This record gives sequence, structure tokens and C-alpha cells, in this order.
Amino acid sequence: MKTLVLKVDPQEPDIEKVRLSADFIKKGGLVAFPTETVYGLGADALNGEAVLSLFRVKRRPLDNPPIVHICDVKDVYRLAEMVPFRAKALMERFWPGPLTLIFKRSEVVPDVTVAGLDTIAVRMPRHNVALALIRESGCPIAAPSANLAGKPSPTSAEHVLDDLGGRIDAILDAGPTVVGVESTVLDLTVDPPQVLRPGGTPFEVLREALGGVELNPAVTAEKALWMEKVRSPGVKYKHYAPDAEVVVVEGEVNAVVAKASELVKFYREEGRKVGVLATDETATCYGGCVVKSLGSRRDLAVVARNLFRLLREFDLEGVDVIVAEGVPAEGLGLAVMNRLRKASGYHIVKAR
Ligand code: TXA
Ligand code: MG
Repeated sequence: MKTLVLKVDPQEPDIEKVRLSADFIKKGGLVAFPTETVYGLGADALNGEAVLSLFRVKRRPLDNPPIVHICDVKDVYRLAEMVPFRAKALMERFWPGPLTLIFKRSEVVPDVTVAGLDTIAVRMPRHNVALALIRESGCPIAAPSANLAGKPSPTSAEHVLDDLGGRIDAILDAGPTVVGVESTVLDLTVDPPQVLRPGGTPFEVLREALGGVELNPAVTAEKALWMEKVRSPGVKYKHYAPDAEVVVVEGEVNAVVAKASELVKFYREEGRKVGVLATDETATCYGGCVVKSLGSRRDLAVVARNLFRLLREFDLEGVDVIVAEGVPAEGLGLAVMNRLRKASGYHIVKAR
């Protein structure tokens, strides 16, 4: 299969290219498309066969359901059996945007789309290409991130093609994504609501909007949790991992640099090619290794935007082990630290 690459303007996409992509979706095909967070791999959410092929192409376990994307708040009432009162205010304030809401599912949704659960994850992305594709397809679009299962999520069309080129019908290429980490997943079927995955909508903002909201223990876990504590199925799998081994060094910044330098020396003496995932403030502190900066520690939105791209770049340069500096777990930093810890398989070193 040849994957059609359709370059489009992120603000005003060429409608002919969007319609061509929508035709694939309508016929049960797979199309990758940009959202504000990461690229998604889309299929008609109401077509069980199409969604099944989506799992197959991604090599994703069948018990980990994708997010269903819509272009109009009205659509939520078809997909959800019940829309709780507090969801209305959230949808009004945060959609379109990087917030996924979990509802009780309705009967129109095929079992495979929700992996047999009685709930469904829904969001309206803040990206004109995604919204146009959903509108032209005339159906809700099930879309997990457009990477092979376990790999860092794709923030550009190149990343998608590296993982899935030749195995999907088309990709709408609108350049790099803006947020860089996936949407925040908020479960509204429990009281108080619970964040199952931190992401593009900061926890602090949700707390201010909702009053009562909790973080699922898996969000801030420093080791893999047992299944009974885990309510978001995706949480239990190895995730976001480059081919290189990852070690995260956490603590106050000077201690982190000292510990990270020690680790660089240690791994080099083992004869390994070492990379350091640093920040603008610290990047010049290292030698004898491949150093990449996430951006300034004072701007965690930029750090989030660069994270997945840099993890993939280390792999392309053949780095064996990545020593990653921790950043403050506030704002978008909470999502960054959650992804880094998972990418490391919870290989966390505390610097003090
Ligand atoms: O930003 C994003 O959310 C991107 C873009 C493409 O929209 N999508 C994305 O999808 O990250 P995916 O499939 O890679 O991650 C979906 C997450 C998984 O952690 C999954 O377990 C969780 O949402 N999820 C889906 N349905 C769920 C449900 N019914 N209950 C709890 N968690 C659910
Ligand atoms: Mg994913």
C-alpha cells in the first residue's frame, strides 16, 4: 500500500485534500491527521471493522480503547448514554481543546471502539484540519496517537511515516503540532472526577474549574502500579519509549546536573553512546555525549512541545542510553514527567 501524503495549511486546509481523506474514512480506511496535541490515526468510530484494523496497524492491544473525536458538541449526546451536568460547563470552556472526557457509552458505539468497556473517551480537537476531516467524514473518528504501540507519540508527519508509512491510506501533513503531549483524560463517571492521564490541559486549571478533582494514583506513580489501581487501560503498558534506554534524574536543578554528569561518565565507561535530555539552563554543563535541550525550564509548554521529537532524534542518532533531566511537575510539566517516567520504565534516580 502506498500512503498518500497530503500537505495542507494548518489554518485553512485545502478542502479537496480533506475530502479525499474523508473518502478513505468513509470506506473504512485509515487516515493520520494533526491535532493540537499529537498526530492521530483515524478510523470511522462507528465501523467496527475499520477500528479493528486501526488496532492491527498500530500493533495495539485490543483492551486499550482509542479516543473518539468529534467536531460538534451535539455529537457527544449520540456517543454518551448520559452527559453529567458538570460536563456541560467543561465542554463549553475547554472544547475544542486538549481535554478528553470519559462518559458512560451509548449503544450506537461498537464494542471494539471501547474495547468492551461500558465507558467511552471523547474529545473535540482544537485543529482546523482535524475538525474539517471529522466534518467531511460525517462520523465520529476514533483516533489513538499515530505511532506504533509503545513508541513516543508523533508530533510531525515524518514521525507518523517512520512508524506507519505504507500501512495507512493517507496522512494530512500540516507541520509540527503545537502542544506536543496528548490530551488530559478526565473521568466524569466517578465523584469527584479523576484525571487518568495528565496532558495538554493542566491539572491546576481543571482544579480551578471544577473545585473537586483528583489525580489517579497512576499519574504520579514512581513505579508501575498493580492493575486494580489502574482505571485507564493504556496506563499498564510500556509507553512513549524510544529504542534507547532512558534514565530520569529528579531533584533540585544543581543536584540533577551533578547526578546526571555522574551517570554520563558511568555509561561512557561502559562503552555506550550517551545522550542527555537537558534544558537551556543546563545544556552547556555536559561533555562527551549528545546533548539536546528541551527548552527553558521557565517555559514548560515549550518543553512539552519538544519532548517526543527529541526522544525520537536520539534514536536516529544511535544513542544507547538517554539521561533525562526531570523538570518541575507543574502545569504541562506534570504530563512531561509522567511520560518521561513511563519511557524510562520507572528507572528514576533521585538527586540530592
Ligand atoms: O491528544 C490525544 O489524546 C491524542 C490525539 C490524537 O487526540 N490521542 C491519544 O490517543 O493520545 P491514545 O489512544 O494514544 O490514548 C488514549 C488514552 C489511553 O490512555 C486509553 O487507555 C484512554 O485514553 N482511554 C480510552 N478510552 C477510555 C475509557 N473508556 N476509560 C478510560 N480510559 C480510556
Ligand atoms: Mg498513544
